[in-house]
Amino acid sequence: MAQNVIDILKQEHEMVLSMLSELASKGTSNREQKYSTLKENLMPHLIGEEKALYPRLMEAGMRDMALESIEEHSAVKTLLGQLDSAPMSEEDVWVAKMKVIQENVEHHISEEEDKIFPAMQQKMSSDELSSLGSRYEEAKRSAMPVAAR
Ligand SMILES: [Fe+2]
Repeated sequence: MAQNVIDILKQEHEMVLSMLSELASKGTSNREQKYSTLKENLMPHLIGEEKALYPRLMEAGMRDMALESIEEHSAVKTLLGQLDSAPMSEEDVWVAKMKVIQENVEHHISEEEDKIFPAMQQKMSSDELSSLGSRYEEAKRSAMPVAAR
């Protein structure tokens, strides 16, 4: 049986948080490559949640939480877009922007882990959480570059 969606998402959150904390520090080596790795992991995660998780939350009486999460994702994507056009050579400025992204992602992850996941655990059976796990993985794969699938 597929993995519980909450377990999958928590593992991914942990990985993203550790990449963010490295990128939001000065003096990080191979910043460009690490930033690409962050985006290669973060974007499919965001899209997977948007396609597989939030629509289900809306049906299951968690509409307001889903709407707020969608807005938080959109803010993070906008900030990443801005960071893409900021020169990495100006490390102070780049790191300042990255810190704001880190804060946004940390806030969003706390909302999911402290409010949304407990609500899901209350409202959804473990079968449903597993089938949501496989739907999430599928949505995430469709958002990955072909070579990484
Ligand atoms: Fe999310």
